[in-house]
Amino acid sequence: MNQDQLKQLVGEAARDEVLKLAAGQVLGVGTGSTANCFIDALAPHKHHFSGTVSSSNATTERLLKHGFKVLDPNDVDVLPTYVDGADEIDPAGHMIKGGGGALTREKIIASMAKQFICICDASKQVAVLGNFALPVEIIPLSKGIVTQELAKLGGTVSLRMAKDTRADLGQTPSQPFVTDNGGWILDVAGLKITNPLGLETQINQIAGVITVGLFAKEKADILLVSNVLGVSRMT
Ligand code: 5RP
Repeated sequence: MNQDQLKQLVGEAARDEVLKLAAGQVLGVGTGSTANCFIDALAPHKHHFSGTVSSSNATTERLLKHGFKVLDPNDVDVLPTYVDGADEIDPAGHMIKGGGGALTREKIIASMAKQFICICDASKQVAVLGNFALPVEIIPLSKGIVTQELAKLGGTVSLRMAKDTRADLGQTPSQPFVTDNGGWILDVAGLKITNPLGLETQINQIAGVITVGLFAKEKADILLVSNVLGVSRMT
């Protein structure tokens, strides 16, 4: 089974998981190739939900194409569940996210949700976060100072270019990758994140940082993870 098939498998498992929820709720939907598998699997059952809130323009487009109702998060009072992928997840459910550049909206929707269901294949499970470069979304004019501050953490900081993202949305490759919010992304490689909550708090305090792609406060409540033997569910 290749990685695409594993993503499809866990997308289908997430569909089965959310169909156990009472009908008529709003569902939060994440971004990325695994989240796309989930959206496609859920499409025939879209009427089970009164609507969705989306974590990126790409996800909104996909949801609308399938006929889901997409709501403005400001119009949603209660969001029981958010389903999204991850770039890395540790045994406590802390995650690195933002490989696709959608970290800020993902964190907003995750903070609204009562439960976060993380869906991934087993390659995303790690003992300690940091092998995947940590994305930090910033206000463009703060690039210099935020780069200096992030370098103090001991990693190597680089500005994400449009060509570096897996979800290149037709941007010019020689230009910085621009997020849905007009921000830029600094990727910090070479960190060993032994205190995810502490590091998340520390990076959030740097002026110019919009969001760090460390999801410790908003960690996963349920993990659905696929491997060649099937899908495991962990809480
Ligand atoms: C996007 C994300 C994604 O959830 C993360 O990058 C995982 O993506 P994929 O399912 O394609 O591996 O955080 O910003």
